[in-house]
Amino acid sequence: MPQAPATKPDPLFDLRWQRSLGDLRAALDRLYARHTDMGDFIARLRALLAEKWAARPRDLRALDLARDVMPDWFLSQNMVGYVFYIDKFAGTLRDVPKHIPYLQKMGVTYAHFMPCLKPRPGDSDGGYAVMDYGAINPALGTMKDFRATTKKLRAAGISTCIDMVLNHTAKEHDWAQKARAGDPYYQAFYRMFDDETLPREYERTLVEVFPNQAPGNFTYYPDMGKWVWTTFNEYQWDLNWENPEVFLAVLGIILDLANNGAEVMRLDAVAFMWKRMGTGCQNLPEVHDLLQAIVQATRIAAPAMVHKAEAIVGPRDLVAYLGQGRHAGRESNFAYHNNLMVQFWSSLAARDTRMMSGVLAHHFPESFRRAQWATYIRCHDDIGWAIDDRDAAGFPPISGPGHRAFLADFYSGQFPGSWARGADFQVNPETGDRRTNGSFASLAGLETALESDDEGQIDLAVNRILLGHALIASFGGMPLIYMGDEIGLLNNHSYRDDPDLAGDGRWMQRPAMDWVTAQAAEAGGTPSARIWRGTRAIMTRRKATPQLAGNVPTRILHTGHPALFVVQRLGDDQTLTAVFNFTEHVQQIAGETLGLIPGTRYIDALNDAPLAGDTVILPPYGRVWLLPAT
Ligand code: GLC
Repeated sequence: MPQAPATKPDPLFDLRWQRSLGDLRAALDRLYARHTDMGDFIARLRALLAEKWAARPRDLRALDLARDVMPDWFLSQNMVGYVFYIDKFAGTLRDVPKHIPYLQKMGVTYAHFMPCLKPRPGDSDGGYAVMDYGAINPALGTMKDFRATTKKLRAAGISTCIDMVLNHTAKEHDWAQKARAGDPYYQAFYRMFDDETLPREYERTLVEVFPNQAPGNFTYYPDMGKWVWTTFNEYQWDLNWENPEVFLAVLGIILDLANNGAEVMRLDAVAFMWKRMGTGCQNLPEVHDLLQAIVQATRIAAPAMVHKAEAIVGPRDLVAYLGQGRHAGRESNFAYHNNLMVQFWSSLAARDTRMMSGVLAHHFPESFRRAQWATYIRCHDDIGWAIDDRDAAGFPPISGPGHRAFLADFYSGQFPGSWARGADFQVNPETGDRRTNGSFASLAGLETALESDDEGQIDLAVNRILLGHALIASFGGMPLIYMGDEIGLLNNHSYRDDPDLAGDGRWMQRPAMDWVTAQAAEAGGTPSARIWRGTRAIMTRRKATPQLAGNVPTRILHTGHPALFVVQRLGDDQTLTAVFNFTEHVQQIAGETLGLIPGTRYIDALNDAPLAGDTVILPPYGRVWLLPAT
């Protein structure tokens, strides 16, 4: 028999196996050694990795080598992300490359295709209920189209990110179907219970993700006579990661997607992957072992790939996703900074940055090893007001529940004097929790300002958006521009006419791209044009500023000025001081308070202008990036 390619000796594969084996094995032992024959498991894992490596196309192997040589590639200040639904942005996968020039104008180097694998029919939670991880959603194209499109993007310097939904599959997935038909091997892929005793026990400490549309965390299927763990919607069945077979099966999928051209995996809803009785079943230590194992295994068979964790959790739990303690430098390469996002909106509404400065300085280290934030202001999801009661009590003392209610009121437009136009989401009368939907522009006041045709208010709204984009471009991390925010797209209510979507208010921030407005934004003084040009300028300046790279430490400066948020980026040679005015009033601050070196001339690298005098004066929602003039 001819030797299978997987077993051919390959020195490069062996070197990479040796490089990661220790970190991989340590995590897997902690997860599985108690119940598993680890010798056999590791042998199967190695065979899987070797098989996927053997199938890896030549161009991607070249990319692997390039990234082994430049392992910090994804931390560069050159990185700018753009997030879009393929149908809403372009139509189909084949239409995406037509828009490469548009992406390049914004400096985009990373394109996140929102869920594009084959979803279940009908309501699929926006594609987060996948029935076939090996196929592209037929409405968007084929796997061949995916390969061709990612290749074209790569040639244009753009890495493709796709979603890997690994907490759950659709109940229509082949594994779930087999489980439902009674196959015990696949039943062990999920969390199933013969009666309600254990689900009830678990429920005592669980929260509800969708209390309105999908209350509870378990669903009973009379045909099977079993309860199934369904954290999100009834049709999303939670996988059982305690089963090492699930690890191998999902890893195989990740590597296939990598071999088809995906360079970044967005690991969806990772906080929920491990469950333990008596806990909230979120952020358990095993989740970090799972992430370490996935990242290290990928480093062997597809080293060009990096991973981004989506854990929308409180500040105390979030930091761990970038690798802390024994996981430092070994876990996710990116994590969404949802706390920065929440604090941005909080400071804006309160016209007070003290909590923002306190929380961001207190909970987060100044730098990470081989990891950075994905910074963003809006995305396809609602905003959960993740403000910790203890934090609220600390900086300066206010009530946590009171502040969260204020934010929900403010951004749904119910608070007197609010300029925002959002909507409540998942109102939970039991806990008093309320989340908020709305597009960046509508939450930032553009919708109300346009309606009242008030030039002054329009100007303020435009500047709130640019404040946000300047913040995510310089805080530390890769900025993610959410499709349409670069031209200020407003809330869109058309989803209400589609029965599959009408029940989920998050669709209001998922509009179709408005190409007419985007084309017109090149010139003229419309709000969209000003947002577009401002956003483009911010990203261009970011790329020219090495102090903004992801491996440069971020230090929050406490100036005592309640209207300003100040961040220092501690470059090897120079410190960049970014100052943001969170109010609609002109503010000023002495250079000395900002730690500027007396007698040194400074330039504002964002606006490419010299700093006049010793005092920094910021217009409403003004932002500057100060650097010593060389
Ligand atoms: C993530 C997605 C969200 C989805 C959930 C369940 O949080 O961003 O849209 O509903 O996971 O997959």
